[in-house]
Amino acid sequence: MSSSKNPGEIEKLMQPHLVRLKGYTPIFPLEVLRGDTSGSDRGGIKLDGNENPYGCSPRVRQALASFHNYHIYPDPEHRRLREALQAYVGVSAEHIVAGSGSDELIDLVLRLFLAPGDEVVNCIPTFGMYQFNVELCGGKVVRVARDEAYDVDVSAVKEAVGKRTKLIFISSPNNPTGNLMSEEKVLELLDTGKIVLVDEAYHEFCGKSVVGFVPKYENLIVLRTFSKWAGLAGLRVGYGVFPSKVVEYIWKIKQPYNVNAAAQVAALESLADIEHLRAVVQAIVTERERLFQRLGELEFLRPYPSQANFILCKVVVGDARRIYTGLRERGIFVRYFDAPLLTDCLRISVGKPEHTDALIKTLKELGG
Ligand SMILES: Cc1ncc(COP(=O)(O)O)c(C=O)c1O
Repeated sequence: MSSSKNPGEIEKLMQPHLVRLKGYTPIFPLEVLRGDTSGSDRGGIKLDGNENPYGCSPRVRQALASFHNYHIYPDPEHRRLREALQAYVGVSAEHIVAGSGSDELIDLVLRLFLAPGDEVVNCIPTFGMYQFNVELCGGKVVRVARDEAYDVDVSAVKEAVGKRTKLIFISSPNNPTGNLMSEEKVLELLDTGKIVLVDEAYHEFCGKSVVGFVPKYENLIVLRTFSKWAGLAGLRVGYGVFPSKVVEYIWKIKQPYNVNAAAQVAALESLADIEHLRAVVQAIVTERERLFQRLGELEFLRPYPSQANFILCKVVVGDARRIYTGLRERGIFVRYFDAPLLTDCLRISVGKPEHTDALIKTLKELGG
């Protein structure tokens, strides 16, 4: 069989940059992680995907069970959802487009702006989908390292911006480091005139946002998701808030039925049950602070403060991979990184209090 290292006849018909593409390393559901094909959802503690351990609102389950129109194509303009989002976000529905997860919107934005050879500035370490999607478009990723506290080095970003730069990615709070970018710094980057995409996937866990600036700046895009705070990762629904001049092209290039009927129902019902979800978010934020403290008590770990629903930890004594594997063998799944600026790091999603207790107990057994 031919491989991408040694292209055969079929690969020669493909786009060379896609044959070379490294691909994205996704996370997997628990039954896959456990190698269990029975479909059982029992056993294991999943702290690797920044998912919501409390699940979706109970009202979402009811709304999905009583929805009758699964046989009809969904509204391609998801009008009811956008109207509800207008009230939630505080920006007119005219600026809002939903997507099959915010992942789809990242892809759409890059398809709109990037031609092969164009550049995108990425403030590393950050969310892996940015690099993946840029490479999918044949674009070039220009990496700018964050500082020791993982803050964006704004002057270095400005220096990295060149003639072929189209866009600057900012994840705020940043995945996997958990820190926010200040409003002033975002405004400074907007002065470059390039598209500044602020990914606020974890907004609800910190309450800070730059979304209010979107109608005033023609180069600011803000992305959000229902995957984390609303517990809808499996249904795939996110949204983008776009400047007027950009939004019309996003409508033009998106697949017509990109947000399926179930996802639209679930997102709408989540917004209708906002008080319940706010209480869930508060429970996660409270647990984040407790987890941070407990991790900090272990002398072999150094947790970084987080404004999101996960905590990045550096293993300062011992072997991070061994700890990751040890946790995994005991049914606790976290994310392990061995990438530039993330050597010996684990990212741990905030779970329920009992998950924190089991994690800390196991970490103590594993030692540094
Ligand atoms: C920073 C960031 N943006 C976007 C996403 C993707 O979100 P969605 O599930 O809406 O595609 C994630 C998921 O982990 C993320 O961490």
